[in-house]
Amino acid sequence: MAFPSDRPRRLRRTAALRSMVRETRIQPSDLILPLFAVSGRGVRKPIGSMPGVAQLSVDLIVEETKTARAAGVRSVILFGIPDHKDAQGTGAWDPNGPVCTAFRAIKDAAPDVVAIADVCLCEYTDHGHCGPLARDARGQVAVANDQTLPLLARAAVAYAQSGADVVAPSDMMDGRVAAIRKGLDEHGLTETAILSYAVKYASAFYGPFREAAESAPKEGDRRGYQMDPANVREARREALLDFQEGADMLMVKPALPYLDVIAEVRRVSDLPLAAYNVSGEYAMLKAAAQNGWIDERRALLEVLTGIKRAGADLILTYSAVDAARSLSDLA
Ligand code: PBG
Repeated sequence: MAFPSDRPRRLRRTAALRSMVRETRIQPSDLILPLFAVSGRGVRKPIGSMPGVAQLSVDLIVEETKTARAAGVRSVILFGIPDHKDAQGTGAWDPNGPVCTAFRAIKDAAPDVVAIADVCLCEYTDHGHCGPLARDARGQVAVANDQTLPLLARAAVAYAQSGADVVAPSDMMDGRVAAIRKGLDEHGLTETAILSYAVKYASAFYGPFREAAESAPKEGDRRGYQMDPANVREARREALLDFQEGADMLMVKPALPYLDVIAEVRRVSDLPLAAYNVSGEYAMLKAAAQNGWIDERRALLEVLTGIKRAGADLILTYSAVDAARSLSDLA
């Protein structure tokens, strides 16, 4: 007579057994490293709220990309900090700005790395919002959705022409995936993929990033375009819309407070799914580690495993290189 096993510990006894029955594995190639590009040479400006992360000039972006590649991380996503900002964010599509210059340099020095461009205007506008502001029909000042779309498409085309393999719109305007797809196709950039930040919440966890990218809104907040943290049905709708508009991959952001959302988007979509382990999540872990309150390496791998177990295929993380190295040490 056979009995169901009442002793799950049998399979936890040795490292080999645990490895044999492990359900979730992270590989360095699952990880995407975000980098902040500034102009100049030999420039490394550390970001106070993100220990270990710095704004880098293009030469150092290339070095960092090669270091990441050597650790097994095969993709980077670039954000730019321009020298000048204006109301429209015109620096976003400057072919000689730090981001476009960095893509050309990366394609030259590390051609087998997947180069991803974050597409948003908040780093480039003097008011810090994700598109130009205008008065709506009620006289309220807000980001003008339809005026923003061609500007995003223009930026996406500039990045793709400079060598970006993937463009990743993070602005949360309605209809931007379709607008970007159309813009790319009209310029013959039919092979450039779109990774849509489809499900992006208005989160307190972006705080350190806004220091890094110098992109905090001067007035107001982003709750008029980013999602309400309370909503998950809306996440399904956003994911479906971006799928219908032609997104090749989807993203949920942030990651840790939204693991249920990752699981839900995984359930309703077959597209590759990324999750962004954002700046505030990074800062929390670093701060605890620096105080000796937590084992950083173990906590980091546990966080990444949790995000992947929830359903993410890919994880954007500022700790990509450390995590990749820990994974190969463990292997
Ligand atoms: C641009 C953008 C933001 C992040 C990625 N792209 C900030 C924001 O929406 O304010 C956040 C990334 C992070 O916190 O690590 N819109």
